[in-house]
Amino acid sequence: MSMQYRAAVLHAVQTPMSIETITSAALKPTDVLVRIRAAGLCHTDLEVIEGSLRYPLPIVLGHEAAGTVEQIGSAARGVKVGDHVVLSWNPHCGQCFHCDRDAPILCEQYLGEGPKGGAFDGEGRTRLSDGRPLQQLMFMGSFGEYCVVTDQQAIPVPKEIPFDRACLIGCGVMTGAGAALNLGAIAHGDTVMVIGCGAVGLAAVQGARLAGAGAIIAVDIDPAKLVLAAKMGATHGVDAKKEDAIAIGKRETKGRGVDVVIEAAGSAAAFRVTTEAVRPGGQVIWLGKIDVNNDVAFRWGSLMQ
Ligand SMILES: NC(=O)c1ccc[n+]([C@@H]2O[C@H](COP(=O)([O-])OP(=O)(O)OC[C@H]3O[C@@H](n4cnc5c(N)ncnc54)[C@H](O)[C@@H]3O)[C@@H](O)[C@H]2O)c1
Ligand SMILES: [Zn+2]
Ligand SMILES: [Zn+2]
Repeated sequence: MSMQYRAAVLHAVQTPMSIETITSAALKPTDVLVRIRAAGLCHTDLEVIEGSLRYPLPIVLGHEAAGTVEQIGSAARGVKVGDHVVLSWNPHCGQCFHCDRDAPILCEQYLGEGPKGGAFDGEGRTRLSDGRPLQQLMFMGSFGEYCVVTDQQAIPVPKEIPFDRACLIGCGVMTGAGAALNLGAIAHGDTVMVIGCGAVGLAAVQGARLAGAGAIIAVDIDPAKLVLAAKMGATHGVDAKKEDAIAIGKRETKGRGVDVVIEAAGSAAAFRVTTEAVRPGGQVIWLGKIDVNNDVAFRWGSLMQ
């Protein structure tokens, strides 16, 4: 049976979202209906609102959420009604070229269907009250009372975790902590620089701490973010508006440069700092993004070694 619920709809870039009653189609066999209990606003949602990340409109944004499973399709696996779940925006087919190589983030179906704004099977699930099709960001669209996802996107979590914290795992924590713990080759005692201390960067700071980093240099243009970063485990704070992060990185490493740099600011200036600040043979991880049609220039020497 189809159902109606309220959601925040973005009709045009650079305009406010409006709260409307929308219609969601009857569940398909592997669908899961989740009642959203908490959702985070990620910078990626903001990029769609601002227009630097282009999606078909109208759309329900939101891709970092937690809630309860209200209903499941006849063939949905891995979850049951009543489960508390964190939603994942990275469903993957499990059998394409990239899934075979353990890179679900590059899954052909995921990358092919994502920009269309439908569900993972390519078919839209939601409509506006006048019947026009409505897109869902990242196979989700969690800025609503409910959302419909495919079963593998609903990850059961212990009921003890408060929803407003569980939801952050879905994007910010996964991206930032995951970069430090899984992608980063952080060795015990390494010096790590995290540029941009928003949701993603603060999670990277915590990940670096867990990975055993020695010094963690947090860089932001907002001093309040540096206060938070210190609470999360940063050993140094650099106000990029007043101080030179590259020089401070060198000072802390006998002039070598830092071992691992994680960019979580989404700024061309910050991307340039990463390659200048890293030591020869060190590691740079870019998590932030800018408009995909823009160029970023690097000093060539900063890319050598
Ligand atoms: N790779 C992924 O899967 C993934 C997932 C989530 C977010 N992102 C991207 O990561 C970036 C961060 O996301 P977020 O939600 O944490 O954003 P956010 O807005 O919460 O945080 C960004 C931080 O960067 C700081 N900043 C901006 N320019 C800076 C500069 N030049 N130097 C230092 N700091 C600067 C801001 O003050 C802010 O604290 C965005 O570009 C977002 O699109 C990527
Ligand atoms: Zn996100
Ligand atoms: Zn795949």
